[in-house]
Amino acid sequence: MSNPPLTKTLILVGMMGAGKSAIGRSLAELTGREYQDTDSLVQSRLGRSITQIFRIYGEDAFREHEAAVLRSLEPEPIVLATGGGIVLREDNWQEMRRLGPILYLRAPLPVLLERLENSRKKRPLLSSESWQETVSELLNHREPLYLKADAVLEVGNEGVDAIAKAAYEIFLRLENQRDN
Ligand code: S3P
Repeated sequence: MSNPPLTKTLILVGMMGAGKSAIGRSLAELTGREYQDTDSLVQSRLGRSITQIFRIYGEDAFREHEAAVLRSLEPEPIVLATGGGIVLREDNWQEMRRLGPILYLRAPLPVLLERLENSRKKRPLLSSESWQETVSELLNHREPLYLKADAVLEVGNEGVDAIAKAAYEIFLRLENQRDN
C-alpha cells in the first residue's frame, strides 16, 4: 500500500550546527517541496542579515520577528527549518503545532562543535572566544525544550541525504499515527 501524501509543513528544530538547513533542503528535494527557513524569512522581513539584526536591534527584537514570521505562515506542504532558538518561546510551539509535525535533529555536542567550527554561517551568539562553552550551555539549557518535538532523529556524521530520508520516514510515520 502506498503512503498517503504529506500535506502539512514538515518542521525541523535543533541546535545551531545540527544540519537543519542542509537536511531541510535535501528533504525538500526528496519530497518535491519548497524549502524555507525562519532565519531567511526574518532577514527578508527586515532587509538585514541576522548578524546586523542582533547588532542593531538586539536578541529580544530578533526573537519578536522570529515569532511574527511563524505566526504569518500557513500550514502549507513545505519544509521549514527553524533557527536554533525558536524553541525558547512557548507561543512558538503553538504556532509550530498549528503548521505541522516537528522533528528534533539531535546531534551530540562534539558533532555540533565540529560542524560549527567549519561552518561559514555567521552566528552572533557564538562570536566570543569561548564559543564552545556557549554551545555546551545552550545545548544543556535547550535540550528539554527540543525534546518537546513530536519525534527525535539522532544525527551524527551520516550523509545529508541519508538523514533526510530517515527524517522523511519519521514524518510519514507521524502522519499515519495522526490519521489512525
Ligand atoms: C540561533 C540560531 C541561528 C539564528 C540565530 C540564533 C540560536 O540559526 O537563528 O543566530 O539562538 O540558536 P541556526 O540554528 O540556523 O544557526
